[in-house]
Amino acid sequence: MKLVTAIIAPAMLDQVQTALVHYGVQGMTVSEVTGYARQRGHKEVYRGETLSIHFILKVRLEILAADADVEGIVGTIVAAARTGEVGDGKVWVTPVETVVRVRTGETGEDAI
Ligand SMILES: Nc1ncnc2c1ncn2[C@@H]1O[C@H](COP(=O)(O)OP(=O)(O)OP(=O)(O)O)[C@@H](O)[C@H]1O
Ligand SMILES: [Mg+2]
Repeated sequence: MKLVTAIIAPAMLDQVQTALVHYGVQGMTVSEVTGYARQRGHKEVYRGETLSIHFILKVRLEILAADADVEGIVGTIVAAARTGEVGDGKVWVTPVETVVRVRTGETGEDAI
């Protein structure tokens, strides 16, 4: 199992979520976050220019996935989130040791 984490532009959330539902993803965690990367928050409109680093509002998606689904999920996110402009975001994959569905006690991929 893997955890797919994606940081995307808030404006792309609806499109990404719809694409993931069509792909077959049944659950995800969505959070509002702030961050910056190579442009240090510049070239993306945010308040004034008084600080050298600006935090930009982004959305973080977290999706637990069976190994076989990871490539498809990452590809779906990237295709749906890309505008071609800076700040489109980042996607990364980390290993997951254990998942438990609380209600039933199911574990592993059955619990996703
Ligand atoms: N190395 C990183 N570690 C953690 N979070 C990151 C990292 N890089 C980017 N992020 C998160 O992703 C958001 C969007 O990053 P962004 O798309 O601007 O990356 P980038 O590498 O600067 O690419 P681009 O040049 O296309 O803008 C950041 O605001 C931050 O929340
Ligand atoms: Mg950037």
